[in-house]
Amino acid sequence: MCGIVGYIGDQQAAPILLDGLEKLEYRGYDSAGIAVYDGEEIHVMKAQGRLKVLNELSHGGEMLPGTLGIGHTRWATHGAPSDTNAHPHFNQDRTIAVVHNGIIENYLKLKKKLEKKGYTFVSETDTEIIAQLLDYYYDGNPLRAITKVMHRMEGSYALGIIFSDHPDELYAVRKDSPLIVGHTKGGSIIASDVPAVLKYTRDVVFIENEEIVRMTAEQMEFFNVDEEPIDKETVHIDWDVNAAEKGGYEHFMLKEMYEQPKAITDTFSPRLKDGKIVIEELGMSDEDIKAVRKIMIVACGSAYHTGMTSKYVFEGLARIPVEVDLASEFRYRDPILEEGTLLIVVSQSGETADTLAALREAKSKGVRVLGIVNVVGSSIAREADNVMYTWAGPEIAVATTKAYSAQLIALYLLAMKFAHVRGELSDEGLAEMIEELKELPAQVEMMLNNQNKIQKFANRYLAARSIFFIGRGIDYAISLEGSLKLKEVSYIHSEAYAAGELKHGTISLIEEGTLVCSVLTQEELYKKTISNMVEVRTRGAFVMAVTNVDNTEVEKAADYVVYIPKTNKYFTNSLAIIPLQLFGYYVAVGRGCDVDKPRNLAKSVTVE
Ligand code: F6R
Repeated sequence: MCGIVGYIGDQQAAPILLDGLEKLEYRGYDSAGIAVYDGEEIHVMKAQGRLKVLNELSHGGEMLPGTLGIGHTRWATHGAPSDTNAHPHFNQDRTIAVVHNGIIENYLKLKKKLEKKGYTFVSETDTEIIAQLLDYYYDGNPLRAITKVMHRMEGSYALGIIFSDHPDELYAVRKDSPLIVGHTKGGSIIASDVPAVLKYTRDVVFIENEEIVRMTAEQMEFFNVDEEPIDKETVHIDWDVNAAEKGGYEHFMLKEMYEQPKAITDTFSPRLKDGKIVIEELGMSDEDIKAVRKIMIVACGSAYHTGMTSKYVFEGLARIPVEVDLASEFRYRDPILEEGTLLIVVSQSGETADTLAALREAKSKGVRVLGIVNVVGSSIAREADNVMYTWAGPEIAVATTKAYSAQLIALYLLAMKFAHVRGELSDEGLAEMIEELKELPAQVEMMLNNQNKIQKFANRYLAARSIFFIGRGIDYAISLEGSLKLKEVSYIHSEAYAAGELKHGTISLIEEGTLVCSVLTQEELYKKTISNMVEVRTRGAFVMAVTNVDNTEVEKAADYVVYIPKTNKYFTNSLAIIPLQLFGYYVAVGRGCDVDKPRNLAKSVTVE
């Protein structure tokens, strides 16, 4: 959460900072601020609310002259969203300016210590103590002060720092929050994420934990926490710049839904070779795959839902027991990790704090960790033993769609590979599934073409109080995701239930006209779920169904049906989720919600 940027060079810094912040706004949008130094004064401007408020206030940055600057877009943790709590923060005599992404866990202790030394604070944030602590240790050598502060701080941070008596230098440092730096023509730039720098450079350096960078307009130098110079590798990013722009769509969420066929193709294509699944990056021989006794999938939110779906796929296809856990639960329950366990962590951002902590917990217990990650070079990608990338490209909308779809594909590929190697799936069976996999992009496209129909349907539910989703098995996992999509962007209360559980409590919530979206893609469960649909319908519910094209029987129990084309029973999630994503999106649009930036949320959840 929160995004930071920084620039030093021969251009005016403010417009570059504002442009970078716009690309990072998905990380938090409670307030924003920039500080720009012209060699004489550090000009600062902060504004509660969206970045556009700051943009207007500063006349596009014109009011803050100078070629060195830092900026921040905030998702509030310590201290409510306000101008005062917005970053940058300063030391008392305003000679040191700091922007921060992360949380300083021992900030109260440090604050007390500083207060005893006579320091006073203006904000409620943990970040202000960083600026004051830097001041406390500062003896004219920025690098030394930074390393001293690093020794005192507990928690996570990516920082951009300006020292007014070093007008030609910009400092940055990280621990457990992402930070990239790059050198552009005539300048250097820092940011929390790649889209913010793509316009200026495609060659970036990923800063590792406890590394510091000193940047001038001409060069970047890297140091470890002992102030020793270190060498860093430059990574070339070949993302399409347009991928991070809306490209004519009303919202990123809609654009990204339409990019799903490509995300799916890009994720499976490089791994299909001569009719086989080849996942080189898995780093596991056939013997290693055969030796796996259990798989644990750990993730948060929608990524967790892909884990739930793949439990059915792995268990059904490869006959390997799978446990799926929320990362925030896994890490605190002292999990039993027996020999032969493979832990898979799934994450779009690769920075989710709980997922990262789960990965570390498993690694510390000697368990092999495979990361399924979208953001190249992110913390999870770097710390996992092996990483399988989902090639969905940058996902900007806070509500995930295309990364979710790409995660499903990566997990299908793994399950198919494991099933084949372990002798549970024949050569013919594999070949057939591969053909069905290859059909998915066109089928997803077809589902997306239902857009108008779903929009009309969605418009009937703009004033709904509560919407329920039900399904069994894989369909339950799909329901969870459908419900999450709807509630996070439209703010309508919604719950997903395993259809058979409904009558154990939730059915009492059904009233005349309550919408119940039912998902039925598993043939052997059709009848069971239809019974549950009848149960709610007789109690006044309006029943919508998403089901396979051949299940016309459902029309007896549903008021509105969306059919999905024929596919393998394990791949149905990829198709059934499309009308549910569109439904959530159009309900939110109809209600006038800020679809790409829902209230209280941020894209990358780097706090626990
Ligand atoms: C929902 C959504 C979140 C994320 C979750 C995990 O639309 O996007 O639930 O899936 O915060 O994020 P990553 O995948 O970045 O670890």
